[in-house]
Amino acid sequence: MSSKLILLSVFALTFTCLALAYEPAPLQGFCVADPNSSVKVNGVVYKNPMQVQAEDFFFSGLHLRGNTSNAVGSKVTPVFAAQLPGLNTLGISMVRIDYAPCGLNPPHTHPRATEILTVLEGTLQVGFVTSNPENRFITKVLQKGDVFVFPVGLVHFQRNIGNGYATVIAALSSQNPGAITIASAVFGANPSIPSDILARAFQMDKSLVEELQAKF
Ligand SMILES: *[C@@H]1O[C@H](CO)[C@@H](O)[C@H](O)[C@H]1NC(C)=O
Ligand SMILES: *[C@@H]1O[C@H](CO)[C@@H](O)[C@H](O)[C@H]1NC(C)=O
Repeated sequence: MSSKLILLSVFALTFTCLALAYEPAPLQGFCVADPNSSVKVNGVVYKNPMQVQAEDFFFSGLHLRGNTSNAVGSKVTPVFAAQLPGLNTLGISMVRIDYAPCGLNPPHTHPRATEILTVLEGTLQVGFVTSNPENRFITKVLQKGDVFVFPVGLVHFQRNIGNGYATVIAALSSQNPGAITIASAVFGANPSIPSDILARAFQMDKSLVEELQAKF
């Protein structure tokens, strides 16, 4: 192979990886989702551009605190393509997250998005864990106005360590970031992952695994 050809192959490979790492760039100005279409594509089929209205690019209600009366004491209010059809194909979305005192947004990952978060109110401990084999825990306490980024795919959490409620707004680099909450995915799978598998993986007693599975 000539060096030119090798260089070209490397370039093509790099380009492919880059293309796979992001959502497809829109080939038109916008592509407002038509949730009623039965056709399935990577994203949502778009409605007739001539029928698009301002409402298609609009969402209201992010000034309202989410209901944090649940086992973890936090609530995510999503503004994804499902809630705001104009986000379809644009590769971006946002959430509001509320935390009751001592509330936790438990360890989870977004398979398709990096998340950048800004604290509007309160004090939070945030953290993420780097990938194998280091699994380094990176953590920081954030105050109002602070910004923190959770790289795509990494396990992360936020915990309210202030006295009152805490609120953040976060932007995500996908119209549909996806979320995998570690505890419920592992111990709350439906049907259950066999307890001997989890006992071996977590190096703990099977009865303890079954106790955890019963909680989800
Ligand atoms: C989807 O169908 C419902 C019920 O027919 C209708 O009210 C709504 O406007 C439709 N949405 C779009 C985006 O066409
Ligand atoms: C908040 O959620 C709890 C638990 O689901 C429910 O009992 C309560 O009525 C909700 N509160 C409001 C204001 O919706």
